[in-house]
Amino acid sequence: MEVKLLDLTRQWKTIKAEAQPAVAAVFEDCGFVLGKPVKDLEVAMADYCGATGAVGVASGTDALLLSLRALGVEKGEEVITSPFTFFATAGAIWNVGGRPVFVDIDPATFNIDAEKIEAAITPRTRVIMPVHLFGQTADMDPILEIAEKHGLKVLEDAAQSIGSEYKGKRSGALGDLGATSFFPSKNLGGAGDGGMVVGKAEALLEEIRLLRGHGAKNRYFHDRVGWNSRLDSLQAAVLGVKLRYLDRWSAMRREHAAAYDEAFLPMDEVVPPPVLDGCTHIYNQYTIRCRRRDELQAFLTKAGVGTAIYYPLSLHEQECFRSLGYAHGAFPESERAAAEVLSLPVYPELTSAEQDYVIAKVKEFYAR
Ligand SMILES: Cc1ncc(COP(=O)(O)O)c(C=O)c1O
Repeated sequence: MEVKLLDLTRQWKTIKAEAQPAVAAVFEDCGFVLGKPVKDLEVAMADYCGATGAVGVASGTDALLLSLRALGVEKGEEVITSPFTFFATAGAIWNVGGRPVFVDIDPATFNIDAEKIEAAITPRTRVIMPVHLFGQTADMDPILEIAEKHGLKVLEDAAQSIGSEYKGKRSGALGDLGATSFFPSKNLGGAGDGGMVVGKAEALLEEIRLLRGHGAKNRYFHDRVGWNSRLDSLQAAVLGVKLRYLDRWSAMRREHAAAYDEAFLPMDEVVPPPVLDGCTHIYNQYTIRCRRRDELQAFLTKAGVGTAIYYPLSLHEQECFRSLGYAHGAFPESERAAAEVLSLPVYPELTSAEQDYVIAKVKEFYAR
């Protein structure tokens, strides 16, 4: 049997009948950039997240970058974040001229350890940027408290967490701004790149609107040096259809996660991802910790099961960040996670026969 880590062709079958006319309507109108579907999606997404507004941009990376600029991060200013995340989190900080300051993760959730944040604050700190990794939010209450106490802004990297909840509120709308990604593998993925910033402060959202269009409020009159980072109408048309399915798909992911949990909880060699009290996980990834990870992955690959390692090297150990001066051992939990994690297929359309096969193969590996 072959079980892919993600098979988007199955999702296309669900949405085809609605997505094709939505795409055709964009061609009929030819408003390809920031057209009506983009405005409609911005309204729908703000509403979905419980924010007051949203701004569509070209990618999740740009959503972070423009947010950091709007929050006023200047050259040499520090942004506190997790070293155990996708590269774009820290890349965006770097590309606005800021300095990523890493804080180790909570080993249970893989998210930034809120208890360790305060020790990393300096007079140059401007923003705290928690990443809601794999689809569960970081512990936001203490993070928001620390930010308030020190006069810092909070930018959520919600690229992997659209729809997840923290104490009844949706991710993205918990801090000052939330950046999400529409990369195709995300729970709400487009037919290409795309991203969005959601927020509650109209002044910040207005600044991001300005920055995504070369900093011009009126065409050819530039108040800022911004970027070309706009969401295409074709993407927004597809995403508008998919948003209507998002909660159903996330619930299907949760069902798969529950079946994996049940199978893996009794095993000593595998640690399933826990869900914290008050949190709703949307399982963009179902990521276990496991013994002999690389051997298990090779075994599963041979058995036809797609898996992935998110992420094999912590950001503080990346060659491009050598000048930040972090050494191996600086963030032991992040480094341990990089050596132990493995993500298994959890996409909504995964069949129970396929999931049973994945579970059987994991058990077979440890029984040998
Ligand atoms: C945690 C995290 N941050 C940022 C990004 C960047 O998003 P994008 O790929 O849309 O630029 C991603 C997605 O790949 C991500 O997973």
